[in-house]
Amino acid sequence: MGDLKFEKHAKYILSIEKEKDGFESVVMEHLRMNGAYWGLTTLDVLGKLGAVDQDEVVSWIMQCQHESGGFGGNIGHDPHVLYTLSAIQVLALFDKIDVLDVEKVANYIASLQNEDGSFTGDIWGEIDTRFSYIAISSLAILQRLDKINVERAVNYIVSCKNLDGGFGCTPGAESHAGQIFCCVGALAITGSLHHVDKDLLGWWLCERQVKSGGLNGRPEKLPDVCYSWWVLSSLIMIDRVHWIDKDKLIKFILDCQDRENGGISDRPDDAVDIFHTYFGVAGLSLLEYPGLKAIDPAYALPVDVVNRIFLGK
Ligand code: FPP
Ligand code: ZN
Repeated sequence: MGDLKFEKHAKYILSIEKEKDGFESVVMEHLRMNGAYWGLTTLDVLGKLGAVDQDEVVSWIMQCQHESGGFGGNIGHDPHVLYTLSAIQVLALFDKIDVLDVEKVANYIASLQNEDGSFTGDIWGEIDTRFSYIAISSLAILQRLDKINVERAVNYIVSCKNLDGGFGCTPGAESHAGQIFCCVGALAITGSLHHVDKDLLGWWLCERQVKSGGLNGRPEKLPDVCYSWWVLSSLIMIDRVHWIDKDKLIKFILDCQDRENGGISDRPDDAVDIFHTYFGVAGLSLLEYPGLKAIDPAYALPVDVVNRIFLGK
């Protein structure tokens, strides 16, 4: 088992930011706000956030805000809750939530709740439990959960629960580890985990571990480093993480590193990207890998950042 390449991964993340015309930057153009969250959170967990010019990032984030209060993926792009959560998370990392007109951002998010408690992601109306999680996590960080009907939001999420104990994107949709993270995370944040059958869901989640030690997102699928996050965080929130083989999973993630140039891929020998670099490092943090900052499984932010928000520490 090789060691985690702290320096190389930090260098890889910082280099993406500089190579603005690089292939990955072009692909990431409309997702830049999410990329900023993945990259900066990874740097923080690695203990390397000091290498970033915070004022420059904060100023760029504020230029991505739309008059509705929501944020776009880049300057001039349409707002969406996906980017709004990332913007709030990055500001939280830098302890800069106070640059926001919190009321305005909270009103934008609250305006996306439907009568049945569900959420759309933007004005176009797609409904998904990802957006329920995003709305709940964002408003909790902003301390404005009172802006929505939490009881209805919880009831809608519970209506997406399946007979296998998992959750899907809408009622009746198949269980998927990414959606399970969203639903369990939203239930954890709202103090509603009693709606989860922990043994049943824990069983489904721990069956995601395959021979190589990696985790997949659904039965019969290939293992993928990003599921180290979606599955592990869910198992931790329902107190069943001891049901998987942690050492084998650590080895799988470390085997997905580019040991020369930094970065982590979805599975061994594939090309690295910033998304899987984040989920690999965040997964290792959940596995208590030495030298990494602890990350909160529900908010997907470092524990010290979450404590600063809620305990004022
Ligand atoms: C799988 O994606 C993942 C999901 C469906 C969950 C996405 C969750 C969010 C966007 C909420 C914000 C997340 C964090 C960490 C703060 P995929 O498209 O890769 O699925 P596939 O493996 O089935 O293709
Ligand atoms: Zn993946």
